[in-house]
Amino acid sequence: MRSLQTPRIPSATFALGMLLLWACAAKADARLDGTKPAQWRVTWTEEPSTKATVSWSTAAQGDSHTLRFREKEGDDEFSVQLAESGRYTGGDFELYYHHARLTDLKPATAYEIQMVSDTNESPIFYFVTAPATDREFSILHGGDSRSDQDARRRVNIMISEMVAQSHDNEILSDDILALAHGGDYIVSGNRMDLWSTWLSDHELTATPDGRLLPIIPARGNHDKGKPFNEVFGFPEDDLNYYSLSIGSQVKFITLNSETSTAGDQAKWLANELSQTRKSHRWLLVQYHRPVYPAVKTPHTALKSWVPLFERFNVDLVCEADGHVIKRTLPIRDGKPDETGVVYIGEGGLGVPQRSPKTDRWFVQSPGMADKGNHVFVLTFRKNVLEGKCVLEGGKLRDEFTRNARNGL
Ligand SMILES: [Fe+2]
Repeated sequence: MRSLQTPRIPSATFALGMLLLWACAAKADARLDGTKPAQWRVTWTEEPSTKATVSWSTAAQGDSHTLRFREKEGDDEFSVQLAESGRYTGGDFELYYHHARLTDLKPATAYEIQMVSDTNESPIFYFVTAPATDREFSILHGGDSRSDQDARRRVNIMISEMVAQSHDNEILSDDILALAHGGDYIVSGNRMDLWSTWLSDHELTATPDGRLLPIIPARGNHDKGKPFNEVFGFPEDDLNYYSLSIGSQVKFITLNSETSTAGDQAKWLANELSQTRKSHRWLLVQYHRPVYPAVKTPHTALKSWVPLFERFNVDLVCEADGHVIKRTLPIRDGKPDETGVVYIGEGGLGVPQRSPKTDRWFVQSPGMADKGNHVFVLTFRKNVLEGKCVLEGGKLRDEFTRNARNGL
């Protein structure tokens, strides 16, 4: 955990030295060393109001891996959850995963957690389960953190600051509850050494008081291979499409653009959208490869998914992969339509940016396109969804709203 406390300093020379040390410490991640827990993270892939997967890594295999957890407010003793452990696949790089799957948690509740591998204990962190009620909140969406590590670390530190600030007031709507990551975490998904660096960098998203921000992961085209499921605690052959309710009114669906977009996945999507359109005020979808790209050619999902998005009036679609910033105008039947679907993206959590093709019809006003590392803040208010695109450094690049469609 990063410390933001500045030490007392006895002389100017020491002052400079300590300042440098502090600057290094602020960037440091936990060292992988034997069975010392590191690379801590929380993942949401089902029922986030009552379940969460808490994961960590160790350099050595070790014998015993458990998670201590308890409600943050209260006098309960720690409970203990045994972790599922194994060696990450991915070349010669030796690293071990540990997943503690927590169930039967209370909604909107902070849990203190501590990872224990053999006799080594992590610092005590906490995370907060999703609400189950109809309340206002925010989530982050971004993608593509694969090929500019310095930028990735800077964006992660910015995310940590944004999360801390969002909870440092009484306003509920700005509270950032999770990060939806639209894929392309690293350059080569079979290289565990690259995953390890990403996982260590991800520690920087923790807030100074130890809050871990749950990830909602989507698979990108660079995330091929077995490590993706091992990193996020999916079953070994999982196809990585799933649906979460966050609060009672937000349905957040993650799709996998790296497997067949038709067939079973399209059937599942149709069923999911038809089941939830009437019960949820907001329907959102994320996946990696764009169907209305600002640089590249449209993904095949344009045929298999877009008719479903339009039929069930999805409120916002979050894409990645292009390494640009874009927001389309509302689209229906392949043309501008006030009642249509808006697509945002396309990835800037630490990746060199491309120049968007600003002459494409779907990024004309009221849409937009630009470049720059960024993250989107999506705020769910009672009748309006507010979106903000925040550039690395904190500058606001885009703002938009979507009105609730179904009057819930
Ligand atoms: Fe990609």
